[in-house]
Amino acid sequence: MPYVTSPITVNVKMPIISKIISKAASIDVIVDEVRRFLKAPTPSAWVGHALGDLTTLLVDHANCEYKAAATGMSMITKYKHLPGLQHLMARLVREEMLHYQQVLVFMDRMGIEFRPLSASRYAKTMREFVRTNEDDRLVDLLIVGAIVEARSCERFAALWPHLPTPLGRYYKSLLRSEGRHYQDYLALAHENSDQESVDARLEHFLRVDEQLIVSPDQEFRFHSGVPT
Ligand SMILES: [Fe+2]
Ligand SMILES: [Fe+2]
Repeated sequence: MPYVTSPITVNVKMPIISKIISKAASIDVIVDEVRRFLKAPTPSAWVGHALGDLTTLLVDHANCEYKAAATGMSMITKYKHLPGLQHLMARLVREEMLHYQQVLVFMDRMGIEFRPLSASRYAKTMREFVRTNEDDRLVDLLIVGAIVEARSCERFAALWPHLPTPLGRYYKSLLRSEGRHYQDYLALAHENSDQESVDARLEHFLRVDEQLIVSPDQEFRFHSGVPT
């Protein structure tokens, strides 16, 4: 695609877990790992609803890319003393804004106009469980980031084979970067907390994600539950 960026090599010590998804890893390996990480797959009813409402799907997808970049920017602003975070978030912000722009191109091509959408239940609920104490807050934000990226990757994998070719091919192309974002966030959580705390909070937030994905949801969004 004409708007794919060339990779930039940054000479920085990357966290160990980020290396699990290597450049050579196949898409199948990435998706398998993400599916093993999450506790529940996307329900087929959600996929069916999404295919019948591409307008809402794309508008909310664009919002998600923008919000992912905004989250990365706010972490860059707040955690200047963490060089690993600075590098990984700088790359993430760049990639999420590129995705945002790419979704805008698809919306233009498909004649989809932006319309206001209320915030999804998913993001709101995940945020409610983030602890307010400063150290705890950082690890919770990183774990939530990992789970949101993993869920996005899993949803792209569930959707792409059923979509019209250009959009399906594009969604397939997002699997690698979203899978890496998931691993970057997870690596940063491990860098900034002990194993026991990370495991406990992962278990907690993975259960919240599972509950939000498998329970009925009145509003259809990119990260919504089962359509009612
Ligand atoms: Fe993205
Ligand atoms: Fe992402």
